[in-house]
Amino acid sequence: MQADAAALMGRARQLHPDLPDRLVAWQRTQGRHHLPWQQTRDPYRVWLSEIMLQQTQVSTVLGYYERFLARFPSVVDLANAELDEVLSLWSGLGYYSRARNLHRCAQAVRDDHGGSFPGDATRLQQLPGIGPSTAAAIAAFCFGERISIMDGNVRRVLSRVLGWGGDLSVRSHERALTDAAQALVPARSADMVPYTQGLMDLGATLCTPRKPACLTCPWSDLCEGRKQGEPERLPVKTKKLKRSQRESWCLWLQKDDAVWLVQRPHTGIWSGLWTLPMFATESALWAAWPHPAEVQPPLTHVLTHLDWRLHLARAQVSAASEGLLSDVMSLVSEPRLGDGQWVSLAALERGEKALPKPFQRWLIGD
Ligand code: ADE
Repeated sequence: MQADAAALMGRARQLHPDLPDRLVAWQRTQGRHHLPWQQTRDPYRVWLSEIMLQQTQVSTVLGYYERFLARFPSVVDLANAELDEVLSLWSGLGYYSRARNLHRCAQAVRDDHGGSFPGDATRLQQLPGIGPSTAAAIAAFCFGERISIMDGNVRRVLSRVLGWGGDLSVRSHERALTDAAQALVPARSADMVPYTQGLMDLGATLCTPRKPACLTCPWSDLCEGRKQGEPERLPVKTKKLKRSQRESWCLWLQKDDAVWLVQRPHTGIWSGLWTLPMFATESALWAAWPHPAEVQPPLTHVLTHLDWRLHLARAQVSAASEGLLSDVMSLVSEPRLGDGQWVSLAALERGEKALPKPFQRWLIGD
């Protein structure tokens, strides 16, 4: 494997236009064509799909995408909404900074661009939450701009076909691959939609991280990674994410059909979302709630950097505990349980509060 940027660029030039032409032909016959965001060139819809598809599978995104568009048919409708409503429609998709940026971006489009997205990647990239690859995807899909996306799938697909063994944790090696990707885009703007979608489709369906399906790949006989014998060893990335573990103890207090929820602070993980009261240690939970509660099986919430083990203790606030907690006010004035409110399960089912996924699962079985 080599890591020479000049040789990489040479190979990309040598494979042009064969490599993009074959991908375009393959995408037209074998690629995906029925995803809802492929039926439009409206930048609002394409942008929304691209943001939702970051870190989230297509099958999960489909329902959210339709609900979002039904509620916010245009970028200005989204800009005019309350953030809380945006967050509650986002509930369960995770990585909520995406939803906050989505809202800020819609407001920037409304206020600074007269309600229409700018028509090129350079200006798209200046909007909140739009990075280089998302800007390139919108520009290629909506405006036919000849610019390459560069996400995890594309890093893998292009590292393999070009036989690029440069360590992508090293900025100059990542840069070299980005330059090569740009040298590979089709000559014709009209090919940018199938080409860009083809890179995504190849990465998602054939050129997978393990056991790539080389026999059916349109690039098979050109692929340097395959010639070298072990395409699955590419791409090289030595600096792996360092994962950490965290534990929290959650308290589910229920009074008739309502549960006690607190709103997370406006910074940090799950900011602005509603959860059961959470404690850093088991003893902190029992200090806040020195009464009987049933301990239920914990669950592990997996985030990019973190495995978060969530323990759960559940108690009814009923007539029997009336002496302990005579009414809502006594609970509201209980600082250790947080500044929260009783919320009916029916309201949660209607999506009136933005809940992180694990709490959605516990409280409404979703
Ligand atoms: N992931 C990111 N963008 C996508 C798209 N347009 N289609 C399918 N998966 C994607």
